[in-house]
Amino acid sequence: MSSIAITGASSGIGKAIAEVYAQKGYDIFLGARREEKLQELSGKLRSMGAKSVHAHRLDVMSDESVESWATAAFKIFPKLDILVNNAGLVLGTDTIETGKIDEWSTIFDTNVMGVLRLCRKFVPKFREQSHGHVVMIGSISGHHVYEGGGPYCATKHSVKVLAQTLRLELNGTSVRVSSVDPGMVETEFSEVRFHGDRDRAKQVYKGFTPLSPLDVAEAVAFATSRPAHVNVDEIIIMPTDQASVSKVHRKN
Ligand SMILES: NC(=O)c1ccc[n+]([C@@H]2O[C@H](COP(=O)([O-])OP(=O)(O)OC[C@H]3O[C@@H](n4cnc5c(N)ncnc54)[C@H](OP(=O)(O)O)[C@@H]3O)[C@@H](O)[C@H]2O)c1
Repeated sequence: MSSIAITGASSGIGKAIAEVYAQKGYDIFLGARREEKLQELSGKLRSMGAKSVHAHRLDVMSDESVESWATAAFKIFPKLDILVNNAGLVLGTDTIETGKIDEWSTIFDTNVMGVLRLCRKFVPKFREQSHGHVVMIGSISGHHVYEGGGPYCATKHSVKVLAQTLRLELNGTSVRVSSVDPGMVETEFSEVRFHGDRDRAKQVYKGFTPLSPLDVAEAVAFATSRPAHVNVDEIIIMPTDQASVSKVHRKN
């Protein structure tokens, strides 16, 4: 395997996955809405050892954008090996009684419809070439729930279900499907959740050591580097101080 397409590569976990695969000498295809971040990252990836790097703007909420991103990916890398469905977000901490419809729409359109749009374009190609690996970046929120996180947890439970369904639908094709489901990772995730409030976002990771994006990227690298007869279905990876989605041991 030597080529990988990563959604949400402009930041956090997606960016770290790109860096890990650059060090492995892969051909890398990046997507996210912030093109300037992708361009910046492309140069770094080349200097880290990537065989080649291509970056195209991607909005997973748009059918047209996904269509053109997937077409470009397969044009450049006709035998693409790995798709990482990483793009995702949460907005706010409202309860179900108080939540905002437009925020819920964005969360579901990104985290669930986005994954479906990408799979619809990439999976037929993987089936046709009799190889390929779909990796979902799920979450511990796909296994547990918490107050103020209902819609986000619903989307990550959905991602888990989509991975399980794909494994059934692709059985016998040699195409693999894995889900890497982290607990708390320090990225721009909380800043996005709190609408740009950096101080509030910092509090989320205070008093304990969260996962780094690299910790998650290394789990993805493990899942995708097993022999062809091995499918890693699911990896749940947590900070040692986090015992569940809502139980975190903080030192102060
Ligand atoms: N951080 C955590 O604690 C944590 C824990 C478990 C799971 N996760 C999951 O990990 C994944 C990555 O999140 P992260 O923690 O790395 O957060 P992040 O630093 O905010 O990165 C999110 C990435 O998703 C991209 N994205 C968001 N909306 C998009 C859209 N409509 N189209 C294309 N790309 C889009 C963003 O790029 P642009 O804004 O440039 O488009 C960015 O590159 C998400 O699926 C998240 O649910 C995170």
